[in-house]
Amino acid sequence: MGIIGVAQEHGAADAVNRAARIDPVTRSVGDRHSVAGNAAYSFNEIRAALCDFARRGGPAPDEYTSLQCLMDRIAVSRANGTISDAMNDSLWDSIGEAGSPQTLMGFIYRKPHGYHGDFEIIDKFYRNWVNPQPHLARWDSWIQSLDATQAVRNRKAFFTNLVCSLDSSAAPQILIVGSGPCRDLREAFEMDPHAFSATCVDTDPRANAYARELLNGYGDRVAFVEKNALRINFNEEFDVAWSAGLFDYLDDRLFVVALRRMYRAVRPPGSAIIGNLSLFNSSRAAMEWANWRLFHRSPEQLLQLVHDAQLSNAGIDISSEPLGVNLFITIVKQQGDTGC
Ligand SMILES: C[S@@+](CC[C@H](N)C(=O)[O-])C[C@H]1O[C@@H](n2cnc3c(N)ncnc32)[C@H](O)[C@@H]1O
Repeated sequence: MGIIGVAQEHGAADAVNRAARIDPVTRSVGDRHSVAGNAAYSFNEIRAALCDFARRGGPAPDEYTSLQCLMDRIAVSRANGTISDAMNDSLWDSIGEAGSPQTLMGFIYRKPHGYHGDFEIIDKFYRNWVNPQPHLARWDSWIQSLDATQAVRNRKAFFTNLVCSLDSSAAPQILIVGSGPCRDLREAFEMDPHAFSATCVDTDPRANAYARELLNGYGDRVAFVEKNALRINFNEEFDVAWSAGLFDYLDDRLFVVALRRMYRAVRPPGSAIIGNLSLFNSSRAAMEWANWRLFHRSPEQLLQLVHDAQLSNAGIDISSEPLGVNLFITIVKQQGDTGC
């Protein structure tokens, strides 16, 4: 049962009529070229629909589109000021345990580690974790079905493929900036445990402690550094400098600062590879309902930022994981390039 059914159950015939204006292509509500229709949904209707999902233990798979529409409505209402931040907070409070850190979405919203995208939630995405409690499981299955969470898992595959493509006879050294849980690194070690070594940089000591545990058994191949990517100066050089899930937190100015520092640490003909969410993230409204706001960028914007960073002599390529949600810009450092 979707939002339409919810409204019927509660006798809100008016809402049913308006729900009929859901655009199946853009999944937005109201006229395709107008967001004004979204504003017509009252806060109470939105809260009633969310509470109904919560009462029924979260969305069933055939309700994902309806819930997506609800997320879109909330996003528009927040953008036009109809729903304030405080009202949005009250929506989370109204759904009980579903809005607690016991669910993936509640964890994202409540931020028990103090910031979005911490090692624990990212590793739950990687492991496709779902709360086993029946009244919460469907919420997590929904979150794990979103393009953005699938794209996180896809970027792990991107990383392991990258590592497998390296010349292992040269014992490559890899720098990982904003390394988080290091699930990607562990899987790469498992595929080819003796070919490369890694240095992991993260500001959060809890992330490094978690990763150290996860990489137990590979301790002689990995070093952990607790430093800020925006300030760090690397003493060593690396064949690959990799960062996924960090640069989309940085505004353009900080993006350039961090990129220059990473690029400086690359030994020619190695490369710096930066991941960033693309403009095609259908999960954005759901993420932003939980206040997880990131810088989404186009390939053109990424190229501009590399240009702004004034990286000399760089060969550049842009690719993505299969969904096109996560872009990766590869910047090859040519022989003779002494830095930036
Ligand atoms: C979204 S997680 C991504 C983790 C990992 N790269 C992955 O893809 O699985 C971002 C990580 O970057 C770390 N981080 C945030 N700001 C940072 C900074 N300025 N320097 C280094 N690490 C940072 C966070 O602590 C967190 O572990």
